[in-house]
Amino acid sequence: MNRVLVTGGTGYIGSHTVVELMEKGFDVVIIDNLSNSQIEVLDGIAGITGKRPDFEQVDLRDKANTFNVFRKYPDIGSIIHFAAFKAVGESVEKPLEYYHNNINSLIYLLEAMNAFRVNNFVFSSSCTVYGEPDTLPVTENAPIKKASSPYGNTKQICEEILQDALIPNPDFKIISLRYFNPIGAHPSALIGELPVGVPNNLVPFITQTAIGLRDELRVFGNDYNTPDGYGIRDYINVVDLSRAHVIAIERLLENRQKQKFEIFNLGTGKGLSVLEIIQTFERITGKKLKYRVVDRRDGDVEQVYADPSYANNELGWKAEKTLEETLLSAWSWEKYIRSKYNAKG
Ligand code: NAD
Ligand code: UFG
Repeated sequence: MNRVLVTGGTGYIGSHTVVELMEKGFDVVIIDNLSNSQIEVLDGIAGITGKRPDFEQVDLRDKANTFNVFRKYPDIGSIIHFAAFKAVGESVEKPLEYYHNNINSLIYLLEAMNAFRVNNFVFSSSCTVYGEPDTLPVTENAPIKKASSPYGNTKQICEEILQDALIPNPDFKIISLRYFNPIGAHPSALIGELPVGVPNNLVPFITQTAIGLRDELRVFGNDYNTPDGYGIRDYINVVDLSRAHVIAIERLLENRQKQKFEIFNLGTGKGLSVLEIIQTFERITGKKLKYRVVDRRDGDVEQVYADPSYANNELGWKAEKTLEETLLSAWSWEKYIRSKYNAKG
Protein backbone atom coordinates (compact mmCIF):
# COMPACT_ATOMS: atom_id res chain seq x y z
CA MET A 1 0.00 0.00 0.00
CA ASN A 2 2.87 2.30 -0.79
CA ARG A 3 1.21 3.98 -3.74
CA VAL A 4 0.19 7.61 -3.54
CA LEU A 5 -2.64 8.90 -5.69
CA VAL A 6 -1.77 12.45 -6.70
CA THR A 7 -4.72 14.34 -8.14
CA GLY A 8 -3.71 17.32 -10.23
CA GLY A 9 -0.27 15.69 -10.52
CA THR A 10 0.60 17.23 -13.88
CA GLY A 11 -0.12 20.70 -12.49
CA TYR A 12 2.40 23.12 -11.04
CA ILE A 13 2.73 22.02 -7.41
CA GLY A 14 1.54 18.47 -8.14
CA SER A 15 4.31 17.74 -10.66
CA HIS A 16 7.03 18.92 -8.27
CA THR A 17 5.52 16.79 -5.51
CA VAL A 18 5.39 13.73 -7.78
CA VAL A 19 9.13 14.14 -8.33
CA GLU A 20 9.83 14.37 -4.59
CA LEU A 21 7.65 11.32 -3.89
CA MET A 22 9.29 9.23 -6.61
CA GLU A 23 12.74 10.23 -5.44
CA LYS A 24 11.75 8.94 -1.99
CA GLY A 25 10.73 5.60 -3.49
CA PHE A 26 6.95 6.01 -3.53
CA ASP A 27 4.92 4.56 -6.36
CA VAL A 28 2.64 7.23 -7.74
CA VAL A 29 -0.46 7.35 -9.88
CA ILE A 30 -1.60 10.70 -11.19
CA ILE A 31 -5.19 11.64 -11.96
CA ASP A 32 -5.48 14.79 -14.03
CA ASN A 33 -7.97 15.91 -16.66
CA LEU A 34 -5.35 18.21 -18.23
CA SER A 35 -7.72 21.18 -17.91
CA ASN A 36 -4.80 23.32 -16.70
CA SER A 37 -1.71 21.30 -17.53
CA GLN A 38 -0.11 19.42 -20.37
CA ILE A 39 0.75 15.80 -20.89
CA GLU A 40 4.40 16.73 -21.67
CA VAL A 41 4.86 17.37 -17.95
CA LEU A 42 5.23 13.59 -17.65
CA ASP A 43 8.34 13.81 -19.87
CA GLY A 44 9.79 16.41 -17.51
CA ILE A 45 9.10 14.19 -14.49
CA ALA A 46 10.66 11.21 -16.26
CA GLY A 47 13.67 13.35 -17.23
CA ILE A 48 14.31 14.13 -13.58
CA THR A 49 13.46 10.81 -11.92
CA GLY A 50 14.32 8.38 -14.73
CA LYS A 51 10.84 6.89 -14.51
CA ARG A 52 7.45 7.81 -15.93
CA PRO A 53 4.70 7.90 -13.30
CA ASP A 54 1.44 6.08 -13.96
CA PHE A 55 -1.07 8.55 -15.34
CA GLU A 56 -4.85 8.42 -15.74
CA GLN A 57 -6.57 11.15 -17.68
CA VAL A 58 -9.76 11.33 -15.65
CA ASP A 59 -12.00 14.19 -14.58
CA LEU A 60 -12.66 13.90 -10.87
CA ARG A 61 -16.21 15.14 -11.47
CA ASP A 62 -16.74 11.81 -13.24
CA LYS A 63 -17.42 9.57 -10.27
CA ALA A 64 -17.52 6.27 -12.18
CA ASN A 65 -14.13 6.79 -13.80
CA THR A 66 -12.63 8.10 -10.59
CA PHE A 67 -13.75 4.88 -8.87
CA ASN A 68 -12.25 2.87 -11.76
CA VAL A 69 -8.82 4.28 -10.95
CA PHE A 70 -9.10 2.91 -7.41
CA ARG A 71 -10.10 -0.48 -8.90
CA LYS A 72 -7.17 -0.44 -11.29
CA TYR A 73 -4.63 0.44 -8.55
CA PRO A 74 -5.68 -1.50 -5.42
CA ASP A 75 -2.36 -0.58 -3.76
CA ILE A 76 -3.33 3.10 -3.35
CA GLY A 77 -2.70 3.83 0.32
CA SER A 78 -2.88 7.60 0.42
CA ILE A 79 -4.02 10.60 -1.58
CA ILE A 80 -2.67 14.08 -2.14
CA HIS A 81 -5.45 16.19 -3.57
CA PHE A 82 -4.15 19.11 -5.64
CA ALA A 83 -6.74 19.09 -8.42
CA ALA A 84 -8.86 22.23 -8.34
CA PHE A 85 -9.54 25.40 -10.23
CA LYS A 86 -7.42 28.12 -8.64
CA ALA A 87 -7.78 31.50 -10.34
CA VAL A 88 -9.24 33.98 -7.89
CA GLY A 89 -10.57 36.44 -10.50
CA GLU A 90 -12.04 33.75 -12.73
CA SER A 91 -13.86 32.31 -9.73
CA VAL A 92 -15.77 35.56 -9.35
CA GLU A 93 -16.91 35.30 -12.99
CA LYS A 94 -17.63 31.55 -12.90
CA PRO A 95 -18.56 30.77 -9.29
CA LEU A 96 -20.67 27.71 -10.06
CA GLU A 97 -17.87 26.08 -12.06
CA TYR A 98 -15.54 26.61 -9.12
CA TYR A 99 -17.96 25.22 -6.56
CA HIS A 100 -18.85 22.34 -8.87
CA ASN A 101 -15.26 21.36 -9.60
CA ASN A 102 -13.54 21.96 -6.30
CA ILE A 103 -16.26 20.58 -4.06
CA ASN A 104 -17.63 17.66 -6.09
CA SER A 105 -14.11 16.40 -6.81
CA LEU A 106 -13.43 16.27 -3.09
CA ILE A 107 -16.71 14.53 -2.29
CA TYR A 108 -16.16 11.80 -4.88
CA LEU A 109 -12.64 11.23 -3.61
CA LEU A 110 -13.92 10.90 -0.04
CA GLU A 111 -16.59 8.46 -1.24
CA ALA A 112 -13.90 6.47 -3.02
CA MET A 113 -11.82 6.46 0.17
CA ASN A 114 -14.79 4.92 1.98
CA ALA A 115 -15.46 2.40 -0.74
CA PHE A 116 -11.83 1.30 -1.22
CA ARG A 117 -10.66 1.69 2.37
CA VAL A 118 -8.04 4.34 1.76
CA ASN A 119 -7.54 6.36 4.93
CA ASN A 120 -4.77 8.88 4.40
CA PHE A 121 -5.46 12.23 2.79
CA VAL A 122 -3.47 15.42 2.25
CA PHE A 123 -5.36 18.50 1.09
CA SER A 124 -4.08 21.58 -0.77
CA SER A 125 -5.40 24.53 1.17
CA SER A 126 -4.36 28.14 1.08
CA CYS A 127 -3.52 31.13 3.25
CA THR A 128 -6.42 32.76 1.48
CA VAL A 129 -8.60 31.27 4.27
CA TYR A 130 -7.13 33.90 6.65
CA GLY A 131 -8.20 36.85 4.47
CA GLU A 132 -6.62 40.08 5.76
CA PRO A 133 -5.20 38.79 9.04
CA ASP A 134 -5.48 40.81 12.26
CA THR A 135 -2.03 39.81 13.45
CA LEU A 136 1.17 38.93 11.62
CA PRO A 137 2.77 36.50 11.17
CA VAL A 138 -0.26 34.24 10.78
CA THR A 139 -0.52 31.11 12.88
CA GLU A 140 -2.85 28.19 12.22
CA ASN A 141 -5.07 29.49 15.04
CA ALA A 142 -5.83 32.77 13.28
CA PRO A 143 -9.55 33.13 12.65
CA ILE A 144 -10.97 32.12 9.30
CA LYS A 145 -12.24 35.28 7.62
CA LYS A 146 -15.10 35.53 5.18
CA ALA A 147 -13.65 34.50 1.85
CA SER A 148 -13.05 37.32 -0.63
CA SER A 149 -13.76 35.07 -3.63
CA PRO A 150 -15.65 31.89 -4.51
CA TYR A 151 -12.24 30.21 -4.93
CA GLY A 152 -11.28 31.06 -1.37
CA ASN A 153 -14.67 29.91 -0.19
CA THR A 154 -14.17 26.51 -1.83
CA LYS A 155 -11.02 26.05 0.28
CA GLN A 156 -12.92 26.92 3.45
CA ILE A 157 -15.84 24.65 2.55
CA CYS A 158 -13.50 21.79 1.60
CA GLU A 159 -11.74 22.01 4.96
CA GLU A 160 -15.15 21.86 6.69
CA ILE A 161 -16.21 18.87 4.58
CA LEU A 162 -13.00 17.10 5.52
CA GLN A 163 -13.58 17.66 9.22
CA ASP A 164 -17.16 16.40 8.96
CA ALA A 165 -16.09 13.38 6.92
CA LEU A 166 -13.83 12.29 9.78
CA ILE A 167 -16.65 11.97 12.28
CA PRO A 168 -18.26 8.76 10.97
CA ASN A 169 -14.91 7.45 9.66
CA PRO A 170 -12.61 6.94 12.62
CA ASP A 171 -9.93 5.44 10.37
CA PHE A 172 -9.60 8.57 8.22
CA LYS A 173 -6.53 10.73 8.82
CA ILE A 174 -6.25 14.10 7.16
CA ILE A 175 -3.64 16.83 6.86
CA SER A 176 -4.55 20.19 5.39
CA LEU A 177 -1.59 22.20 4.14
CA ARG A 178 -2.16 25.93 3.84
CA TYR A 179 0.24 27.26 1.24
CA PHE A 180 1.37 30.85 1.14
CA ASN A 181 2.71 31.99 -2.27
CA PRO A 182 4.44 29.16 -4.15
CA ILE A 183 7.00 30.33 -6.71
CA GLY A 184 9.95 29.01 -8.69
CA ALA A 185 10.63 25.79 -10.54
CA HIS A 186 12.59 22.58 -10.25
CA PRO A 187 16.35 23.29 -10.41
CA SER A 188 16.61 21.03 -13.48
CA ALA A 189 14.27 23.47 -15.30
CA LEU A 190 12.46 20.39 -16.67
CA ILE A 191 9.24 21.22 -14.84
CA GLY A 192 7.80 24.51 -13.63
CA GLU A 193 4.73 26.70 -13.71
CA LEU A 194 3.08 26.94 -17.12
CA PRO A 195 0.23 29.41 -16.85
CA VAL A 196 -2.39 29.23 -19.57
CA GLY A 197 -2.84 32.65 -21.19
CA VAL A 198 -1.97 35.84 -19.35
CA PRO A 199 -0.56 35.00 -15.91
CA ASN A 200 -2.41 36.24 -12.83
CA ASN A 201 0.49 35.69 -10.50
CA LEU A 202 3.44 37.96 -9.92
CA VAL A 203 6.46 35.79 -10.68
CA PRO A 204 5.28 34.28 -13.99
CA PHE A 205 4.30 37.79 -15.06
CA ILE A 206 7.78 39.04 -14.19
CA THR A 207 9.56 36.26 -16.11
CA GLN A 208 7.26 36.63 -19.13
CA THR A 209 7.88 40.39 -19.14
CA ALA A 210 11.64 39.89 -18.85
CA ILE A 211 11.65 37.49 -21.79
CA GLY A 212 9.62 39.91 -23.92
CA LEU A 213 6.31 38.08 -23.98
CA ARG A 214 4.58 40.92 -22.06
CA ASP A 215 5.15 44.64 -22.56
CA GLU A 216 5.28 45.59 -18.91
CA LEU A 217 4.42 44.40 -15.44
CA ARG A 218 1.57 46.26 -13.81
CA VAL A 219 2.23 46.60 -10.10
CA PHE A 220 -1.02 46.70 -8.16
CA GLY A 221 -0.60 49.60 -5.74
CA ASN A 222 2.24 51.22 -3.81
CA ASP A 223 0.09 53.05 -1.29
CA TYR A 224 -0.34 50.22 1.18
CA ASN A 225 0.42 50.67 4.84
CA THR A 226 3.69 48.73 4.53
CA PRO A 227 7.31 49.94 4.85
CA ASP A 228 7.71 50.65 1.11
CA GLY A 229 4.01 50.92 0.28
CA TYR A 230 3.90 47.71 -1.81
CA GLY A 231 1.89 44.59 -0.98
CA ILE A 232 3.63 41.95 1.09
CA ARG A 233 3.50 38.14 0.70
CA ASP A 234 5.35 35.07 1.86
CA TYR A 235 6.93 33.53 -1.26
CA ILE A 236 7.74 29.86 -0.80
CA ASN A 237 9.90 27.79 -3.15
CA VAL A 238 7.81 25.10 -4.87
CA VAL A 239 10.35 22.34 -4.21
CA ASP A 240 10.45 23.22 -0.51
CA LEU A 241 6.66 23.18 -0.55
CA SER A 242 6.61 19.80 -2.29
CA ARG A 243 8.96 18.25 0.26
CA ALA A 244 6.41 19.06 2.96
CA HIS A 245 3.87 16.85 1.18
CA VAL A 246 6.18 13.84 1.32
CA ILE A 247 6.69 14.45 5.03
CA ALA A 248 2.92 14.73 5.53
CA ILE A 249 2.36 11.42 3.73
CA GLU A 250 5.02 9.73 5.86
CA ARG A 251 3.44 11.17 8.99
CA LEU A 252 0.07 9.70 8.02
CA LEU A 253 1.45 6.31 7.02
CA GLU A 254 3.46 6.06 10.24
CA ASN A 255 0.51 7.17 12.41
CA ARG A 256 2.43 10.10 13.86
CA GLN A 257 -0.49 12.53 13.86
CA LYS A 258 -1.45 14.37 17.03
CA GLN A 259 -5.04 14.73 15.82
CA LYS A 260 -7.08 13.13 13.05
CA PHE A 261 -7.28 16.48 11.28
CA GLU A 262 -4.16 18.58 11.26
CA ILE A 263 -3.44 21.93 9.68
CA PHE A 264 -0.03 23.34 8.82
CA ASN A 265 1.00 26.70 7.42
CA LEU A 266 3.61 26.29 4.71
CA GLY A 267 5.59 29.47 4.26
CA THR A 268 9.03 30.91 4.92
CA GLY A 269 7.94 33.22 7.72
CA LYS A 270 9.32 36.20 5.82
CA GLY A 271 7.13 38.84 4.22
CA LEU A 272 8.51 40.44 1.05
CA SER A 273 7.10 43.34 -0.91
CA VAL A 274 6.41 43.34 -4.64
CA LEU A 275 9.21 45.89 -5.03
CA GLU A 276 11.68 43.65 -3.21
CA ILE A 277 10.79 40.79 -5.57
CA ILE A 278 11.28 43.01 -8.63
CA GLN A 279 14.59 44.39 -7.39
CA THR A 280 15.93 40.95 -6.47
CA PHE A 281 14.93 39.61 -9.88
CA GLU A 282 16.70 42.50 -11.61
CA ARG A 283 19.83 42.05 -9.52
CA ILE A 284 20.25 38.31 -10.06
CA THR A 285 19.36 38.24 -13.75
CA GLY A 286 20.92 41.56 -14.74
CA LYS A 287 17.73 42.35 -16.62
CA LYS A 288 15.89 45.64 -16.24
CA LEU A 289 12.21 44.97 -15.77
CA LYS A 290 9.69 47.31 -17.31
CA TYR A 291 6.98 47.96 -14.76
CA ARG A 292 4.36 50.57 -13.91
CA VAL A 293 2.43 51.12 -10.70
CA VAL A 294 -1.34 51.05 -11.22
CA ASP A 295 -4.35 50.93 -8.90
CA ARG A 296 -4.71 48.27 -6.28
CA ARG A 297 -6.22 44.99 -7.52
CA ASP A 298 -9.69 44.17 -6.15
CA GLY A 299 -9.61 41.50 -3.49
CA ASP A 300 -5.87 41.83 -2.70
CA VAL A 301 -4.93 41.85 0.95
CA GLU A 302 -2.28 44.29 2.11
CA GLN A 303 0.07 41.83 3.69
CA VAL A 304 0.14 38.20 4.73
CA TYR A 305 3.01 36.00 5.82
CA ALA A 306 3.22 32.80 7.78
CA ASP A 307 4.31 31.78 11.19
CA PRO A 308 5.63 28.39 10.03
CA SER A 309 6.91 27.30 13.45
CA TYR A 310 4.26 24.62 13.89
CA ALA A 311 5.29 22.97 10.61
CA ASN A 312 8.97 23.52 11.48
CA ASN A 313 8.64 21.83 14.85
CA GLU A 314 6.02 19.16 14.21
CA LEU A 315 6.93 18.13 10.67
CA GLY A 316 10.63 18.80 10.97
CA TRP A 317 10.25 20.76 7.76
CA LYS A 318 11.65 24.16 6.93
CA ALA A 319 11.80 26.27 3.80
CA GLU A 320 15.46 26.14 2.78
CA LYS A 321 15.92 27.75 -0.61
CA THR A 322 16.85 31.39 -0.87
CA LEU A 323 14.77 33.93 -2.75
CA GLU A 324 17.67 34.37 -5.17
CA GLU A 325 17.89 30.72 -6.16
CA THR A 326 14.11 30.49 -6.34
CA LEU A 327 13.78 33.46 -8.71
CA LEU A 328 16.70 32.14 -10.77
CA SER A 329 14.93 28.78 -11.09
CA ALA A 330 11.79 30.57 -12.34
CA TRP A 331 13.92 32.45 -14.86
CA SER A 332 15.73 29.30 -16.06
CA TRP A 333 12.35 27.61 -16.52
CA GLU A 334 10.97 30.56 -18.47
CA LYS A 335 13.97 30.50 -20.82
CA TYR A 336 13.72 26.72 -21.22
CA ILE A 337 10.03 26.65 -22.14
CA ARG A 338 10.28 29.58 -24.52
CA SER A 339 13.19 27.95 -26.33
CA LYS A 340 11.47 24.57 -26.34
CA TYR A 341 7.99 25.50 -27.44
CA ASN A 342 8.60 29.01 -28.72
CA ALA A 343 5.18 29.46 -27.14
CA LYS A 344 3.13 32.62 -27.12
CA GLY A 345 1.13 32.95 -23.89
P1 NAD B 1 -2.53 23.85 -11.29
O1 NAD B 1 -3.71 24.40 -12.01
O2 NAD B 1 -1.18 23.97 -11.92
O3 NAD B 1 -2.76 22.29 -10.98
C1 NAD B 1 -4.05 21.76 -10.75
C2 NAD B 1 -4.21 20.55 -11.65
O4 NAD B 1 -5.49 19.97 -11.40
C3 NAD B 1 -4.17 20.89 -13.13
O5 NAD B 1 -3.21 20.07 -13.78
C4 NAD B 1 -5.57 20.62 -13.65
O6 NAD B 1 -5.56 20.13 -14.97
C5 NAD B 1 -6.06 19.59 -12.64
N1 NAD B 1 -7.52 19.55 -12.45
C6 NAD B 1 -8.36 20.58 -12.14
N2 NAD B 1 -9.62 20.14 -12.03
C7 NAD B 1 -9.59 18.79 -12.24
C8 NAD B 1 -10.58 17.76 -12.25
N3 NAD B 1 -11.87 18.02 -12.06
N4 NAD B 1 -10.19 16.50 -12.49
C9 NAD B 1 -8.88 16.20 -12.73
N5 NAD B 1 -7.91 17.13 -12.73
C10 NAD B 1 -8.26 18.41 -12.50
O7 NAD B 1 -2.53 24.48 -9.82
P2 NAD B 1 -1.40 24.48 -8.69
O8 NAD B 1 -0.84 25.84 -8.59
O9 NAD B 1 -0.49 23.32 -8.87
O10 NAD B 1 -2.31 24.28 -7.41
C11 NAD B 1 -2.53 23.00 -6.85
C12 NAD B 1 -3.44 23.14 -5.64
O11 NAD B 1 -2.86 24.02 -4.69
C13 NAD B 1 -4.82 23.71 -5.95
O12 NAD B 1 -5.77 23.03 -5.15
C14 NAD B 1 -4.71 25.15 -5.54
O13 NAD B 1 -5.95 25.69 -5.19
C15 NAD B 1 -3.79 25.04 -4.34
N6 NAD B 1 -3.06 26.29 -4.06
C16 NAD B 1 -2.30 26.87 -5.04
C17 NAD B 1 -1.64 28.07 -4.78
C18 NAD B 1 -0.81 28.75 -5.84
O14 NAD B 1 -0.52 29.92 -5.70
N7 NAD B 1 -0.41 28.06 -6.91
C19 NAD B 1 -1.75 28.66 -3.52
C20 NAD B 1 -2.51 28.04 -2.54
C21 NAD B 1 -3.18 26.86 -2.82
N1 UFG C 1 0.93 41.52 -8.28
C1 UFG C 1 1.23 42.62 -9.07
N2 UFG C 1 1.14 42.50 -10.42
C2 UFG C 1 0.77 41.34 -11.04
C3 UFG C 1 0.46 40.21 -10.23
C4 UFG C 1 0.55 40.34 -8.84
O1 UFG C 1 1.56 43.68 -8.55
O2 UFG C 1 0.68 41.30 -12.28
C5 UFG C 1 1.06 41.63 -6.81
C6 UFG C 1 -0.25 41.43 -6.08
O3 UFG C 1 -0.96 42.63 -5.96
C7 UFG C 1 0.25 40.87 -4.74
C8 UFG C 1 1.50 40.08 -5.12
O4 UFG C 1 1.91 40.60 -6.38
O5 UFG C 1 0.64 41.92 -3.90
C9 UFG C 1 1.26 38.59 -5.25
O6 UFG C 1 0.17 38.37 -6.14
P1 UFG C 1 -0.15 36.94 -6.76
O7 UFG C 1 -1.28 37.10 -7.72
O8 UFG C 1 1.09 36.30 -7.26
O9 UFG C 1 -0.59 36.08 -5.48
P2 UFG C 1 -1.79 36.32 -4.47
O10 UFG C 1 -1.15 36.57 -3.14
O11 UFG C 1 -2.76 37.30 -4.95
O12 UFG C 1 -2.55 34.91 -4.50
C10 UFG C 1 -1.89 33.64 -4.57
C11 UFG C 1 -2.71 32.67 -5.40
C12 UFG C 1 -4.00 32.34 -4.72
C13 UFG C 1 -3.77 31.90 -3.32
C14 UFG C 1 -2.93 32.91 -2.58
C15 UFG C 1 -2.60 32.45 -1.22
O13 UFG C 1 -2.96 33.23 -6.68
O14 UFG C 1 -4.62 31.28 -5.41
O15 UFG C 1 -1.72 33.15 -3.28
O16 UFG C 1 -2.08 31.18 -1.27
F1 UFG C 1 -4.94 31.72 -2.68
